[in-house]
Amino acid sequence: MEERLQKILAKAGIASRRRAEQMICDGRIQVNGQVINEMGYKADPGLDTITCDGKPIDLEQKMYVLLNKPAGYVTTLADPQGRPVVSDLVADIPLRLFPVGRLDLETEGALLMTNDGELGNAILHPRFEVNKTYEATVTGSPSQDKIRLLEQGIEIEGIKTRPAAIRVLKRFKEQTLFEVIIHEGKKRQVRKMFEAINHRVLYLKRTAYGALKLGTLPSGKYRILGQDDLKKIFSGKIPFTIKNIPA
Ligand code: URA
Repeated sequence: MEERLQKILAKAGIASRRRAEQMICDGRIQVNGQVINEMGYKADPGLDTITCDGKPIDLEQKMYVLLNKPAGYVTTLADPQGRPVVSDLVADIPLRLFPVGRLDLETEGALLMTNDGELGNAILHPRFEVNKTYEATVTGSPSQDKIRLLEQGIEIEGIKTRPAAIRVLKRFKEQTLFEVIIHEGKKRQVRKMFEAINHRVLYLKRTAYGALKLGTLPSGKYRILGQDDLKKIFSGKIPFTIKNIPA
């Protein structure tokens, strides 16, 4: 099916629509060997050979990376306030990867980035119940009763959270380190859950998506994921067919 060239490039994750237009204007894109610098040009990704700077573009290539997000990075592709963004940390990958869900500015840890919108949506959709595991250091020493409230679901801004699994990893004198497993992704959910029982989260790190663990990946670094990693996210079964997935 024919589509505008900039749309094809953006859909393939080569660049944003605006950047793709710039690439076309700059004469970097060829269709069947011919430079195209006309904005309304339509091509058929199934029939035409599209190249950038003479190199063929793989319109189907999907990429999945697990990044260890440091605190102080915004989970967006660009920030109007000029703060560091997570896409800076994967800038050497020549595809437009977007973060799957978000981590707060001050939250660290596992952040999946991909150009596969379908997989990204599945991870976020409550239907697939992908567990997200966090380590949270909170003020004080919440009682078992309060922890049970969080586990059963607690009202945040008028909506009850789904059941969570929570266990104490370590009690310090004035703080407690918890492991928190949830499969929802409401904004600042873990922080708000503890606020609801009058304890403040001091430090928060996501350590796993499903059975895919962050492990020893250094802060600010990423690793490219393959089939087995993706299966771990969905407890063994990827809920749809993924084309061109790395082995
Ligand atoms: N819960 C939070 O409070 N913050 C995050 O970044 C992720 C989950």
